[in-house]
Amino acid sequence: MFAKRLFLSLVLSLPWTCQAGLQSTFVASDLRDPMEISIAPNGDLYVVEREGRVLRVIPGTGAVMEIGSIPVTALRKENKDSSWAREDGLLGIALDPQFTSNQRLYLYYSAPDQMINRLSRFTLKNGILDLKAEKILLEIPTDRRDRVCHQAGSLAFSKDGLLYLSTGDNTNPFESGGVAPIDDREGHDHANAMRSAGNTNDLRGKVLRIKPTEKGYEIPKGNLFPPGTPKTRPEIYVMGCRNPFRLSIDPKTQTIYWGEVGPDAGNPSPKGPAGHDEVNQAKSAGNHGWPFLVADNKPYPLVDFSSKAIGTMTDPAAPRNPSKFNTGLEVLPPARAALIWYPYGASTEFPLMGSGGRNAMAGPVFYHIAKRPWNLLGIEDDHTLITYDWMRNKAWKVKLDDQENFVRMEVLLEGLQHPMDMEMAPDGSIYLLEYGSGWYFNNNGRIRHLTPDQGHKPLQIAIKAGAGNAYEADVKDLKQQPCEIVWYLTKGTTDRKVGTGAKLECPDTNADQLRAVATDAHGNRGIARVLLQSGGQTELELELKGQPKDLAFGEKVSFKIKGAAPDKDLVLRARYIPPTGHDAGGPALPDDVVKLITAKQCLACHQVETPSVGPAYLNVALRYRDQQNAFAHLQQKLKNGGAGVWGEIPMPPQAAVNEAESQHIIRAILGLAEGMNEVRGQREGILTLPPAPANAAPGGAWELTAQAPQCSFAKRRINAR
Ligand code: HEC
Repeated sequence: MFAKRLFLSLVLSLPWTCQAGLQSTFVASDLRDPMEISIAPNGDLYVVEREGRVLRVIPGTGAVMEIGSIPVTALRKENKDSSWAREDGLLGIALDPQFTSNQRLYLYYSAPDQMINRLSRFTLKNGILDLKAEKILLEIPTDRRDRVCHQAGSLAFSKDGLLYLSTGDNTNPFESGGVAPIDDREGHDHANAMRSAGNTNDLRGKVLRIKPTEKGYEIPKGNLFPPGTPKTRPEIYVMGCRNPFRLSIDPKTQTIYWGEVGPDAGNPSPKGPAGHDEVNQAKSAGNHGWPFLVADNKPYPLVDFSSKAIGTMTDPAAPRNPSKFNTGLEVLPPARAALIWYPYGASTEFPLMGSGGRNAMAGPVFYHIAKRPWNLLGIEDDHTLITYDWMRNKAWKVKLDDQENFVRMEVLLEGLQHPMDMEMAPDGSIYLLEYGSGWYFNNNGRIRHLTPDQGHKPLQIAIKAGAGNAYEADVKDLKQQPCEIVWYLTKGTTDRKVGTGAKLECPDTNADQLRAVATDAHGNRGIARVLLQSGGQTELELELKGQPKDLAFGEKVSFKIKGAAPDKDLVLRARYIPPTGHDAGGPALPDDVVKLITAKQCLACHQVETPSVGPAYLNVALRYRDQQNAFAHLQQKLKNGGAGVWGEIPMPPQAAVNEAESQHIIRAILGLAEGMNEVRGQREGILTLPPAPANAAPGGAWELTAQAPQCSFAKRRINAR
């Protein structure tokens, strides 16, 4: 139990609506890398988090309760630079169609003990996940070595009780320069999606479709390969996927939609087209092309990675998989084009997609149903697909015709915080899961409840901590907007009402979280939350003057940091993120340097961004960047060891590092500061953005991070101009 924080006012304020026409109420916050959401018939939400927690959320009161935790393989903070299992974890959730009566749910996760991803059925016992009653349905061998990425892992049930699972190509994308990862050399199979997505006999890089039964599952009719077809797997519904991230099923037509996170190439080259993300549609089983085609069936040529020779161009009508790692058919089903496709730069076909980093997601499909409580869109929008993008922080509505063809699109939402999943509730409202501000280790994931904007002012509420166990709800404009306040306390899996009115004496400070829920005469709600056991972490808030929409290199940004840390500890950092977005999780060292410092055990004491036994490498880079003799000093220090620069703990001499290695490592560490600038010890002031680095390309972004010891980072991402 941690001492109650003495400073006043922390907690969730309510940034609110993102778009005329829709109102956002934040019903859950403080989530840690939430991945997928599933709605129960009674309106409760079930959410999975990357590192294994399974949560139940009661949207009416904002209760967030941990109902279980699945042991998984996932990237952890302690070794966040590891090249192992970068995108593994607890990935997907779907509730059984009969959830109300059987309390069953399906999870897709990376097993902790073996190199497999597992689809299992679990049962809730008294509302708690019963780990012993796990029924394993499907195990998919997976690769976790050498920075392989792309696990996807979205689950969805169709109305007819079929379970769909999206799986990624499980391939390292970095070693093929942003074109097709078809490196067929021995020892490079981790960078070869011909073994997975392009293989008719492998379950990776697919959308699978099964019918769960008591004993396991059956194969429904209409999958891509009839059972018994040699060199194929009957579970495959769609093949040729790269990282099919969020999957959604049209409730009327059962057509499936998914966003496909595409490759990185900025421009076309002899080795293939520019990378595109895709929004895909499958009305029936089929091949969506990867790694031989992308976008509207733009083909890649086969490339010999030894001789660098460029071979035959893929034929979309009959793509071939000639890989020696292919255990399936050589001639593949004809490839299908995407419904929507877009590159990093501006799209000529779909200009409203904008430009910048990309991470496409898709669904749900909206139908206008007059007798339902809410319709978020109009009658004219009947039969509209909603799509969104994790990097662009926007959602779009895509009108479809009777044949489910694209008619037109419009921007629907902006200013989201890494939208990760979207589900429509039976009442017609939408729950939007936001992953949090960073790539990993967020504690500011949240859930928005989207309802039609009825023109009422949103309720803004915060909780102030007073002396002892006293708390007070602070509602903005209370006089103009009278409301009722109810307090709730959550401990474990129980949530109870503990008081009403503006003030509360908290009856149990050993509980997990305290909430004040304000409701006005129109039924609008505002929910504020205090985590009572949050380990003393306090939240910082970052305000930028003029709320800039984009920022240029060298621009001066006027800022203010709010939060309870002493001024002298505050740091505000700006970092340029190039449009590939792969380092969006934080500044990163090149792969070969990561390998080297892993082998030399430097990571035992150092991390890139977070101080550990030794200083964060990023802090080293920023400290020495203008010093002439930095290089020599650091080389000397590695050789001889020593203390006193960062604290009293000495670094032992790094005897295992030779001269050339030491130069290579230090150059890379000092390079971390490129494209960055910072201001220390100021609560309010001006930060000058750095000049354009060599890798500046259109579509990059700025990440502004306010930080202090004992505080969670406040991150803001703003497009670079
Ligand atoms: C056993 C723990 C430990 C290991 C292993 C270790 N370091 Fe350090 N390192 C430290 C500590 C502690 C400091 C701070 C020393 C100081 O305050 O002067 C430090 C400081 C540094 C600095 C900044 C030096 C300065 O004077 O500002 C660099 C650069 C560095 N380490 C790189 C490395 C590299 C590269 C490796 C692996 C080859 C490595 N360290 C391995 C603990 C370690």
